[in-house]
Amino acid sequence: MTTQNIYILAIESSCDDTAAAVMHNGKILSNIVASQKIHEAYGGVVPELASRAHQQNIVPVVDQALTTADVSASQLSAIAFTRGPGLMGSLLVGTSFAKSLAYGLSIPLIDVNHMQAHILAHFIEEADFIKPPFPFLAMTISGGHTQIVKVDSHFEMDVIGETIDDAVGEAFDKSGKLLGFGYPAGPEIDKRAKLGNPKAFAFTKPKVSGLNFSFSGLKTQILYFVQKQVKANPNFIEEHLNDICASIQYTIIGILIDKLKLASKETGIKHIAIGGGVSANSGIRQALKDGETKFGWTTYVPKFEYTTDNAAMIAIVGHLKFLEGYNADQSVMASARLKI
Ligand code: KG4
Ligand code: ZN
Repeated sequence: MTTQNIYILAIESSCDDTAAAVMHNGKILSNIVASQKIHEAYGGVVPELASRAHQQNIVPVVDQALTTADVSASQLSAIAFTRGPGLMGSLLVGTSFAKSLAYGLSIPLIDVNHMQAHILAHFIEEADFIKPPFPFLAMTISGGHTQIVKVDSHFEMDVIGETIDDAVGEAFDKSGKLLGFGYPAGPEIDKRAKLGNPKAFAFTKPKVSGLNFSFSGLKTQILYFVQKQVKANPNFIEEHLNDICASIQYTIIGILIDKLKLASKETGIKHIAIGGGVSANSGIRQALKDGETKFGWTTYVPKFEYTTDNAAMIAIVGHLKFLEGYNADQSVMASARLKI
Protein backbone atom coordinates (compact mmCIF):
# COMPACT_ATOMS: atom_id res chain seq x y z
CA MET A 1 0.00 0.00 0.00
CA THR A 2 1.50 3.36 -0.96
CA THR A 3 0.64 6.53 0.91
CA GLN A 4 -1.20 7.51 -2.28
CA ASN A 5 -4.07 5.15 -1.62
CA ILE A 6 -5.19 5.06 1.96
CA TYR A 7 -8.86 4.33 2.42
CA ILE A 8 -10.17 4.61 5.98
CA LEU A 9 -13.64 3.54 7.09
CA ALA A 10 -14.51 5.34 10.31
CA ILE A 11 -17.29 4.65 12.79
CA GLU A 12 -18.59 7.01 15.46
CA SER A 13 -21.14 5.86 18.05
CA SER A 14 -20.22 7.68 21.27
CA CYS A 15 -23.53 9.38 21.98
CA ASP A 16 -26.76 9.62 20.02
CA ASP A 17 -25.54 9.76 16.42
CA THR A 18 -24.61 6.64 14.49
CA ALA A 19 -22.07 7.79 11.92
CA ALA A 20 -19.77 6.31 9.32
CA ALA A 21 -17.39 7.96 6.87
CA VAL A 22 -14.99 6.90 4.17
CA MET A 23 -11.80 8.89 3.65
CA HIS A 24 -9.29 8.66 0.80
CA ASN A 25 -5.87 10.17 1.52
CA GLY A 26 -7.30 12.67 4.01
CA LYS A 27 -10.28 13.68 1.84
CA ILE A 28 -13.82 12.75 2.73
CA LEU A 29 -15.66 10.63 0.18
CA SER A 30 -18.76 10.05 2.31
CA ASN A 31 -19.95 11.24 5.70
CA ILE A 32 -23.19 9.63 6.85
CA VAL A 33 -24.93 10.47 10.13
CA ALA A 34 -28.12 8.87 11.42
CA SER A 35 -29.33 11.15 14.21
CA GLN A 36 -31.53 9.43 16.75
CA LYS A 37 -34.77 11.35 16.97
CA ILE A 38 -36.05 9.13 19.76
CA HIS A 39 -34.37 11.26 22.47
CA GLU A 40 -36.18 14.50 21.58
CA ALA A 41 -39.25 13.55 23.59
CA TYR A 42 -37.16 12.90 26.72
CA GLY A 43 -35.30 16.23 26.76
CA GLY A 44 -31.94 14.46 26.69
CA VAL A 45 -30.17 11.33 25.54
CA VAL A 46 -31.50 8.09 27.08
CA PRO A 47 -28.42 5.78 27.09
CA GLU A 48 -30.33 2.51 26.81
CA LEU A 49 -32.33 3.77 23.82
CA ALA A 50 -29.17 5.14 22.23
CA SER A 51 -27.41 1.74 22.33
CA ARG A 52 -30.41 0.02 20.79
CA ALA A 53 -30.66 2.58 18.01
CA HIS A 54 -26.93 2.24 17.27
CA GLN A 55 -27.37 -1.50 16.96
CA GLN A 56 -30.22 -0.95 14.53
CA ASN A 57 -28.43 1.73 12.49
CA ILE A 58 -24.84 0.63 12.31
CA VAL A 59 -24.98 -1.78 9.37
CA PRO A 60 -27.17 0.42 7.11
CA VAL A 61 -25.06 3.50 7.96
CA VAL A 62 -21.75 1.77 7.18
CA ASP A 63 -23.26 0.30 4.04
CA GLN A 64 -24.43 3.73 2.90
CA ALA A 65 -21.01 5.26 3.64
CA LEU A 66 -19.30 2.65 1.44
CA THR A 67 -21.90 2.91 -1.34
CA THR A 68 -21.82 6.72 -1.39
CA ALA A 69 -18.02 6.68 -1.50
CA ASP A 70 -18.09 3.98 -4.17
CA VAL A 71 -15.51 2.05 -2.21
CA SER A 72 -15.69 -1.66 -1.54
CA ALA A 73 -14.74 -3.29 1.75
CA SER A 74 -11.80 -5.00 0.03
CA GLN A 75 -10.27 -1.60 -0.83
CA LEU A 76 -10.16 -0.45 2.81
CA SER A 77 -6.77 0.14 4.43
CA ALA A 78 -8.01 0.32 8.04
CA ILE A 79 -11.06 0.63 10.27
CA ALA A 80 -11.12 3.55 12.72
CA PHE A 81 -13.64 3.79 15.55
CA THR A 82 -14.44 5.96 18.56
CA ARG A 83 -13.10 4.30 21.68
CA GLY A 84 -14.31 7.05 24.05
CA PRO A 85 -15.24 9.19 25.82
CA GLY A 86 -18.99 8.68 25.61
CA LEU A 87 -21.82 6.43 26.72
CA MET A 88 -20.54 2.92 27.38
CA GLY A 89 -23.45 1.07 25.75
CA SER A 90 -23.18 3.25 22.64
CA LEU A 91 -19.40 2.91 22.41
CA LEU A 92 -19.63 -0.88 22.71
CA VAL A 93 -21.73 -1.11 19.54
CA GLY A 94 -19.19 0.79 17.40
CA THR A 95 -16.18 -0.86 19.05
CA SER A 96 -17.49 -4.40 18.57
CA PHE A 97 -18.52 -3.70 14.99
CA ALA A 98 -15.16 -2.14 14.10
CA LYS A 99 -13.20 -4.97 15.70
CA SER A 100 -15.16 -7.64 13.84
CA LEU A 101 -14.83 -5.85 10.51
CA ALA A 102 -11.08 -5.24 10.86
CA TYR A 103 -10.60 -8.84 11.95
CA GLY A 104 -12.72 -10.18 9.09
CA LEU A 105 -10.86 -8.07 6.51
CA SER A 106 -7.44 -8.64 8.13
CA ILE A 107 -6.66 -4.91 8.14
CA PRO A 108 -5.50 -2.55 10.92
CA LEU A 109 -7.91 -1.48 13.64
CA ILE A 110 -7.48 2.09 14.87
CA ASP A 111 -9.05 3.36 18.09
CA VAL A 112 -9.77 7.08 18.25
CA ASN A 113 -10.33 9.51 21.11
CA HIS A 114 -13.52 11.46 20.32
CA MET A 115 -12.23 14.72 21.84
CA GLN A 116 -8.97 14.52 19.90
CA ALA A 117 -11.08 13.92 16.80
CA HIS A 118 -13.10 17.12 17.36
CA ILE A 119 -9.75 18.96 17.29
CA LEU A 120 -8.16 17.06 14.41
CA ALA A 121 -11.27 17.63 12.27
CA HIS A 122 -9.36 20.77 11.24
CA PHE A 123 -6.91 18.54 9.36
CA ILE A 124 -9.45 17.01 6.98
CA GLU A 125 -8.38 17.98 3.43
CA GLU A 126 -10.96 20.57 2.32
CA ALA A 127 -10.76 23.24 -0.35
CA ASP A 128 -10.89 26.75 1.19
CA PHE A 129 -10.06 25.53 4.72
CA ILE A 130 -6.68 26.35 6.20
CA LYS A 131 -5.20 24.00 8.79
CA PRO A 132 -4.07 25.62 12.05
CA PRO A 133 -0.28 25.68 12.54
CA PHE A 134 1.25 24.17 15.70
CA PRO A 135 1.07 25.19 18.44
CA PHE A 136 -2.54 26.31 18.53
CA LEU A 137 -5.30 26.50 21.10
CA ALA A 138 -8.42 24.40 20.55
CA MET A 139 -11.62 25.00 22.42
CA THR A 140 -13.81 21.91 22.28
CA ILE A 141 -17.37 22.74 23.14
CA SER A 142 -20.01 20.03 23.01
CA GLY A 143 -22.88 18.46 24.88
CA GLY A 144 -20.47 16.46 27.02
CA HIS A 145 -17.30 18.55 27.16
CA THR A 146 -15.88 22.02 27.46
CA GLN A 147 -12.12 22.18 27.22
CA ILE A 148 -9.30 24.42 26.15
CA VAL A 149 -6.48 22.33 24.75
CA LYS A 150 -2.96 23.37 23.83
CA VAL A 151 -2.12 21.44 20.69
CA ASP A 152 1.61 21.02 20.01
CA SER A 153 1.30 18.36 17.31
CA HIS A 154 -1.35 15.96 16.02
CA PHE A 155 -0.95 13.76 19.06
CA GLU A 156 0.60 16.05 21.68
CA MET A 157 -2.30 17.76 23.40
CA ASP A 158 -2.58 19.30 26.85
CA VAL A 159 -5.90 20.15 28.45
CA ILE A 160 -5.21 23.53 30.06
CA GLY A 161 -8.79 24.30 31.12
CA GLU A 162 -12.08 22.44 31.42
CA THR A 163 -15.48 22.59 32.98
CA ILE A 164 -15.79 21.72 36.64
CA ASP A 165 -19.48 20.79 36.23
CA ASP A 166 -21.80 21.03 33.21
CA ALA A 167 -20.63 21.24 29.62
CA VAL A 168 -21.50 24.33 27.60
CA GLY A 169 -23.86 22.28 25.41
CA GLU A 170 -25.74 21.29 28.55
CA ALA A 171 -26.11 24.98 29.42
CA PHE A 172 -27.81 25.45 26.05
CA ASP A 173 -29.87 22.26 26.30
CA LYS A 174 -31.01 22.72 29.90
CA SER A 175 -31.88 26.41 29.43
CA GLY A 176 -33.76 25.45 26.28
CA LYS A 177 -35.69 22.78 28.14
CA LEU A 178 -36.86 25.43 30.63
CA LEU A 179 -38.12 27.45 27.69
CA GLY A 180 -40.03 24.48 26.29
CA PHE A 181 -37.61 23.42 23.53
CA GLY A 182 -36.94 19.79 22.67
CA TYR A 183 -33.49 18.18 22.73
CA PRO A 184 -31.00 19.36 21.57
CA ALA A 185 -31.98 22.95 22.25
CA GLY A 186 -28.74 24.63 21.11
CA PRO A 187 -29.74 25.09 17.46
CA GLU A 188 -33.17 26.52 18.43
CA ILE A 189 -31.62 29.00 20.89
CA ASP A 190 -29.14 29.99 18.17
CA LYS A 191 -31.95 30.57 15.66
CA ARG A 192 -34.04 32.68 18.05
CA ALA A 193 -31.04 34.55 19.43
CA LYS A 194 -30.54 36.07 15.97
CA LEU A 195 -33.93 37.76 16.31
CA GLY A 196 -33.55 38.98 19.89
CA ASN A 197 -31.73 41.61 21.92
CA PRO A 198 -28.67 40.09 23.64
CA LYS A 199 -28.72 42.77 26.32
CA ALA A 200 -32.42 42.49 27.17
CA PHE A 201 -31.73 40.46 30.32
CA ALA A 202 -28.50 40.38 32.26
CA PHE A 203 -27.07 37.17 33.71
CA THR A 204 -23.91 37.13 35.79
CA LYS A 205 -20.92 35.12 34.63
CA PRO A 206 -19.56 32.47 37.02
CA LYS A 207 -16.39 33.30 38.91
CA VAL A 208 -14.07 30.39 38.24
CA SER A 209 -10.38 31.03 38.52
CA GLY A 210 -7.86 30.20 35.82
CA LEU A 211 -8.91 28.52 32.62
CA ASN A 212 -11.64 26.31 34.04
CA PHE A 213 -15.34 26.77 33.32
CA SER A 214 -18.55 26.33 35.26
CA PHE A 215 -22.04 26.33 33.79
CA SER A 216 -24.26 24.82 36.47
CA GLY A 217 -24.70 28.15 38.31
CA LEU A 218 -25.81 29.87 35.12
CA LYS A 219 -28.44 27.20 34.54
CA THR A 220 -29.82 27.74 38.07
CA GLN A 221 -29.73 31.50 37.61
CA ILE A 222 -31.75 31.18 34.40
CA LEU A 223 -34.20 28.81 36.11
CA TYR A 224 -34.88 31.27 38.99
CA PHE A 225 -35.11 34.18 36.57
CA VAL A 226 -37.67 32.41 34.37
CA GLN A 227 -39.70 31.19 37.38
CA LYS A 228 -39.83 34.70 38.87
CA GLN A 229 -40.86 36.34 35.60
CA VAL A 230 -43.50 33.71 34.81
CA LYS A 231 -45.00 34.22 38.27
CA ALA A 232 -45.45 37.91 37.49
CA ASN A 233 -46.54 37.32 33.88
CA PRO A 234 -47.60 33.80 32.80
CA ASN A 235 -46.94 34.73 29.14
CA PHE A 236 -43.42 35.98 29.86
CA ILE A 237 -41.64 33.20 27.96
CA GLU A 238 -43.62 33.44 24.75
CA GLU A 239 -43.64 37.25 24.81
CA HIS A 240 -39.85 37.49 25.24
CA LEU A 241 -38.55 34.23 23.81
CA ASN A 242 -36.12 35.73 21.29
CA ASP A 243 -34.72 38.18 23.84
CA ILE A 244 -34.29 35.45 26.46
CA CYS A 245 -32.46 33.24 23.94
CA ALA A 246 -30.27 36.14 22.79
CA SER A 247 -29.40 37.05 26.39
CA ILE A 248 -28.54 33.46 27.36
CA GLN A 249 -26.40 33.00 24.26
CA TYR A 250 -24.67 36.35 24.80
CA THR A 251 -23.76 35.34 28.37
CA ILE A 252 -22.43 31.93 27.31
CA ILE A 253 -20.36 33.46 24.51
CA GLY A 254 -18.95 35.99 26.97
CA ILE A 255 -17.84 33.19 29.30
CA LEU A 256 -16.14 31.28 26.48
CA ILE A 257 -14.40 34.30 24.96
CA ASP A 258 -13.13 35.53 28.37
CA LYS A 259 -11.42 32.18 28.94
CA LEU A 260 -10.00 32.06 25.43
CA LYS A 261 -8.56 35.55 25.94
CA LEU A 262 -6.92 34.42 29.15
CA ALA A 263 -5.60 31.20 27.57
CA SER A 264 -4.15 33.17 24.66
CA LYS A 265 -2.53 35.65 27.04
CA GLU A 266 -1.06 32.94 29.27
CA THR A 267 0.33 30.81 26.45
CA GLY A 268 1.16 33.59 23.98
CA ILE A 269 -0.66 31.56 21.29
CA LYS A 270 -2.90 33.48 18.91
CA HIS A 271 -3.98 30.67 16.60
CA ILE A 272 -7.36 29.57 17.92
CA ALA A 273 -9.51 26.71 16.69
CA ILE A 274 -12.91 25.51 17.85
CA GLY A 275 -14.63 22.17 17.57
CA GLY A 276 -17.55 20.20 18.96
CA GLY A 277 -21.29 20.55 18.48
CA VAL A 278 -21.57 23.98 20.08
CA SER A 279 -19.08 25.43 17.59
CA ALA A 280 -21.95 25.26 15.09
CA ASN A 281 -23.36 28.24 17.02
CA SER A 282 -23.48 31.32 14.80
CA GLY A 283 -22.91 33.74 17.69
CA ILE A 284 -19.77 31.91 18.78
CA ARG A 285 -18.50 31.82 15.21
CA GLN A 286 -19.03 35.58 14.95
CA ALA A 287 -17.41 36.30 18.32
CA LEU A 288 -14.39 34.31 17.25
CA LYS A 289 -14.14 36.23 13.98
CA ASP A 290 -14.39 39.48 15.94
CA GLY A 291 -11.43 38.24 18.02
CA GLU A 292 -9.29 38.47 14.88
CA THR A 293 -9.58 42.26 14.78
CA LYS A 294 -9.97 42.81 18.52
CA PHE A 295 -7.19 40.56 19.82
CA GLY A 296 -5.06 39.76 16.77
CA TRP A 297 -6.18 36.11 16.67
CA THR A 298 -6.19 33.88 13.63
CA THR A 299 -9.20 31.64 14.05
CA TYR A 300 -10.17 28.29 12.58
CA VAL A 301 -13.73 27.05 12.42
CA PRO A 302 -14.40 23.65 10.87
CA LYS A 303 -16.88 23.01 8.10
CA PHE A 304 -20.37 22.82 9.58
CA GLU A 305 -20.82 19.05 9.12
CA TYR A 306 -17.55 18.40 10.97
CA THR A 307 -18.61 20.28 14.10
CA THR A 308 -21.43 18.14 15.53
CA ASP A 309 -20.68 14.46 16.06
CA ASN A 310 -19.59 12.82 12.82
CA ALA A 311 -17.34 10.05 11.59
CA ALA A 312 -15.30 12.23 9.21
CA MET A 313 -13.36 13.52 12.22
CA ILE A 314 -12.77 9.93 13.36
CA ALA A 315 -11.53 9.12 9.85
CA ILE A 316 -8.88 11.88 9.85
CA VAL A 317 -7.47 10.62 13.16
CA GLY A 318 -7.52 7.10 11.70
CA HIS A 319 -5.67 8.38 8.64
CA LEU A 320 -3.02 10.20 10.70
CA LYS A 321 -2.48 7.18 12.98
CA PHE A 322 -2.35 4.86 9.98
CA LEU A 323 0.46 6.98 8.52
CA GLU A 324 2.37 6.33 11.73
CA GLY A 325 1.89 2.59 11.33
CA TYR A 326 -0.56 2.31 14.19
CA ASN A 327 -2.55 -0.90 14.64
CA ALA A 328 -4.52 -1.52 17.84
CA ASP A 329 -4.67 -4.87 19.53
CA GLN A 330 -7.97 -6.73 19.14
CA SER A 331 -8.25 -6.64 22.95
CA VAL A 332 -8.77 -2.84 22.89
CA MET A 333 -11.85 -1.85 24.91
CA ALA A 334 -14.30 1.04 24.81
CA SER A 335 -13.57 3.61 27.52
CA ALA A 336 -16.39 5.90 28.66
CA ARG A 337 -14.04 8.34 30.42
CA LEU A 338 -11.13 8.29 28.01
CA LYS A 339 -8.94 11.38 28.47
CA ILE A 340 -7.05 13.37 25.84
O1 KG4 B 1 -20.46 17.42 19.63
P1 KG4 B 1 -21.92 17.13 19.76
O2 KG4 B 1 -22.71 16.85 18.51
O3 KG4 B 1 -22.16 15.92 20.72
C1 KG4 B 1 -21.41 15.72 21.89
O4 KG4 B 1 -20.29 15.16 21.78
O5 KG4 B 1 -21.89 16.20 22.93
O6 KG4 B 1 -22.58 18.34 20.54
C2 KG4 B 1 -23.95 18.37 20.83
C3 KG4 B 1 -24.26 19.67 21.52
C4 KG4 B 1 -25.68 19.78 22.05
O7 KG4 B 1 -25.61 20.23 23.39
C5 KG4 B 1 -26.34 20.81 21.15
O8 KG4 B 1 -27.35 21.57 21.79
C6 KG4 B 1 -25.17 21.68 20.80
O9 KG4 B 1 -24.09 20.76 20.60
N1 KG4 B 1 -25.37 22.47 19.59
C7 KG4 B 1 -25.49 23.82 19.59
C8 KG4 B 1 -25.73 24.21 18.26
N2 KG4 B 1 -25.74 23.08 17.48
C9 KG4 B 1 -25.53 22.03 18.32
N3 KG4 B 1 -25.40 24.69 20.60
C10 KG4 B 1 -25.56 26.00 20.30
N4 KG4 B 1 -25.81 26.44 19.05
C11 KG4 B 1 -25.89 25.60 18.00
N5 KG4 B 1 -26.13 26.06 16.78
ZN1 ZN C 1 -18.75 15.31 20.22
